[in-house]
Formats: sequence, structure tokens, C-alpha cells
Amino acid sequence: MSMSHKKKLKLIITGCNGLIGSILSENLKNKYEILGIDLKQSTKIPSVSINTASNKDMEKIFEGYDVVIDLAAHASTNTPWEKVYANNIQSTYNVIKSASESGIKRVIFASSNHVTGMYENDYPYKNIVSGNYPKESKIPYITTKMPNRPDSPYGIGKSTGESIGKYFSEKFNTSIICIRIGTVNLENKPVDSEGTTGIRSFATLLTHNDLIQLIEKSINASSDLKYEIFYGVSNNKWRFWDIKDSETKIGYIPNDNAEKWR
Ligand SMILES: NC(=O)c1ccc[n+]([C@@H]2O[C@H](COP(=O)([O-])OP(=O)(O)OC[C@H]3O[C@@H](n4cnc5c(N)ncnc54)[C@H](O)[C@@H]3O)[C@@H](O)[C@H]2O)c1
Repeated sequence: MSMSHKKKLKLIITGCNGLIGSILSENLKNKYEILGIDLKQSTKIPSVSINTASNKDMEKIFEGYDVVIDLAAHASTNTPWEKVYANNIQSTYNVIKSASESGIKRVIFASSNHVTGMYENDYPYKNIVSGNYPKESKIPYITTKMPNRPDSPYGIGKSTGESIGKYFSEKFNTSIICIRIGTVNLENKPVDSEGTTGIRSFATLLTHNDLIQLIEKSINASSDLKYEIFYGVSNNKWRFWDIKDSETKIGYIPNDNAEKWR
């Protein structure tokens, strides 16, 4: 099976009205045939209004599409457990299950760096996120092989989402790529987005261009990839997540470095 046809690939984007959904649909709509899904219909791309947390059978809508990009969630890291449970986890389960049952070849799941956020309590990450940069030039990267250490109910939800993906990839052979997205913001540069100093985003920024590259390479990656987890981060000087695996497996080579806004 090859993912590169002459015909335009057909994509579903859940959460299409949000920040990342808008960036992706705006930049991919000429190259791919896109159907958006969100609570309200999109004014910018063809879409349907569906609550993905309560709709258990989206197979009929997914049928005939190639790839689902699953973004629908309460995206704030402060989302309380009740909403993570009732909205985010339910939605991820329904979307991945429906994708598997409708013969979708690949789901790209918007996971989060908050699946491993507790490492940021430890040296040297705690120093880097507060701007007290360590002296050593080489710091050990946090990799996707290391144990999950969610830092919030939101992080627990994303960790659970990765497990849901693992189950459906092994049970039904659906290809699942989980992207642990770093910091994507409207300003597209390191800024105060979480009410703190914003200094953390010099390490965690994922620019719009690098995001688009990573998603496109995930869409078009070999069908041999059955289950992958990649960190989504730009080539920041103070990056502390390992991205060697996405370079090797899908050729992701980020172009931006947050340092240029210092
Ligand atoms: N922006 C970031 O830096 C970042 C970082 C890590 C992970 N993520 C993840 O990426 C995804 C997109 O993030 P974003 O920043 O664009 O968030 P956003 O809040 O701008 O967009 C989320 C969209 O999902 C929709 N949605 C939520 N629940 C839904 C439901 N039950 N049914 C249908 N639609 C629903 C919302 O209406 C909204 O349009 C989220 O899953 C988020 O957790 C984002």
C-alpha cells in the first residue's frame, strides 16, 4: 500500500476550527481534499458539525478518506479531570475506533508534551524552562522510550489517548502516529501564553512551518509505520526532547530556532 497517489489524498481534521486546525486547513487545503469536523461548522473549509465525544459512529462519514488528523479536545493544560474524561478521552476513543472500523489507513493523534511534563521538575529541564540555562552544552534529551510522567489531568488524557491508539494499531492494524506537540501559538514565536514568563517556549516552541512539515510528513510516511510517537518541536537551541526518531523515520528536519526571537 502506498500513501502517495496521483489523486489528492482525502483528510479528515477533527477540531478544525481551533488554532492548529486552522493553520493546517489553511495550508493543506489546496493539496488535499479536506473535510473538517468541529462542534460548529467551519466558515473556511467543507465541514460537518459533530460532537466527537458523544458520536460513537462516525464510520459513515470517515468512509473513503485516507487519513484522520485528530485534534478535537479541550486544549488547555488546566482542563479539569471531569472534562478531560468526558470530552477528551471519549472523543479520542470514538475517533480512533471509527477510523479503524471505516478502513482509514492512518490516524495522526494530537498528543502533548504534557505526557512527560513531570520531567520538568528535574535538573536540567527545570532550569531550562525557567531560563536558568545550565553550563553544559549537551543536555540529555527526554525520549519517547522513557516512562510517561503526565503533569496534569490533561496530560493523563493524552497519555490515555496514546494507549487507545496503541490498542487499535495492534488489534486492527490501523497506523497511528502520535505527535507530542510542544508550544504552538497564534503569535508563532516565544511569548507569554500560559500566564507565566513565556521563557519555557524558547525550549518548547513548534513554529507553524515546522508543524505543517511534521504533519505532512506524517500523512505521507510509509505504511510500514504502524505505531509511532514523535515530539513536535522546532530546532530550538534549548530543546530538550529527542527528535532523532522522526528524522530517521519520516525525514522531519525542523527549520526554525526560537533563539532568533531572543
Ligand atoms: N496549541 C498547542 O500548543 C498544543 C500543544 C499540545 C497539544 N495540543 C493539542 O492539539 C489539539 C489542537 O489544539 P489547538 O491549540 O488547536 O486547540 P483549540 O482549542 O484552538 O482547538 C480545539 C478544537 O477542538 C474542538 N473540539 C473540542 N471538543 C470537541 C468535541 N467534543 N467535538 C468536536 N470538536 C471539539 C473545539 O471546538 C476547537 O475548535 C488539541 O488536541 C490539543 O490538546 C495543542
